Amino acid sequence: MKIDVLTLFPAMFGGVLSQSMIGIARKKGILDITVRNIRDHAEGRHRTVDDRPYGGGPGMILKVEPVIRAVERTQAERGGEGHVILLTPRGRRFDQAAARRLARLDHLVLVCGHYEGFDERIRIGLGPEEISIGDYVLSGGEIAAMVLIDAVTRLLPGVLGSGESLAEESFNEGALLEYPQYTRPAEFRGMRVPEILLSGHHERIEEWRRRRALERSRARRTEARDDEKT
Ligand code: ADE
Repeated sequence: MKIDVLTLFPAMFGGVLSQSMIGIARKKGILDITVRNIRDHAEGRHRTVDDRPYGGGPGMILKVEPVIRAVERTQAERGGEGHVILLTPRGRRFDQAAARRLARLDHLVLVCGHYEGFDERIRIGLGPEEISIGDYVLSGGEIAAMVLIDAVTRLLPGVLGSGESLAEESFNEGALLEYPQYTRPAEFRGMRVPEILLSGHHERIEEWRRRRALERSRARRTEARDDEKT
């Protein structure tokens, strides 16, 4: 998969894109990511990328020309339009189903906004999908883009081992939260690992895990629904 990230803060991506799962996927050649600076496409001595809103009001607005030029340059270099995504709190909420849908695409172009908002003509000109990672306002789309890249990368074929991908499937279908996990030592400060896990009795272990996953899902998801009502 090819991913282009367009941002005013390319340095924010360094660690995230070189470490852990994303770093491995890039080394394996499964993921080809380029981070591009929107400012490189701004004109004038000061390379201005933002300006005050017409009609007045607080904050600064991301200008239309540098963003559109950055996207067009990216598309020309890649030899294709790609699926353009704008990260914005106004977008549709990102979830596991969206991650699975995007993981099937060949090329994503992620545009990170900053300041108080975008010039509306960025939306009109690009016709992007608009995605939010949750109902809260971040200071820019960069961290949202990293969240999206991480969730999509671990779904790309060849990134996870087959065992891990199966676990992913069961999460998708049953919408169950994970059961409690333990590793050595069997006791830490008086807290013992449940006997059943040390028993070697695979069927009973499976049954215990399933029950605990159900209990957790019921408790936490109900809580979440109750919060939404208040
Ligand atoms: N930019 C600012 N807040 C955001 C959010 N919640 N999701 C995506 N992009 C954003």
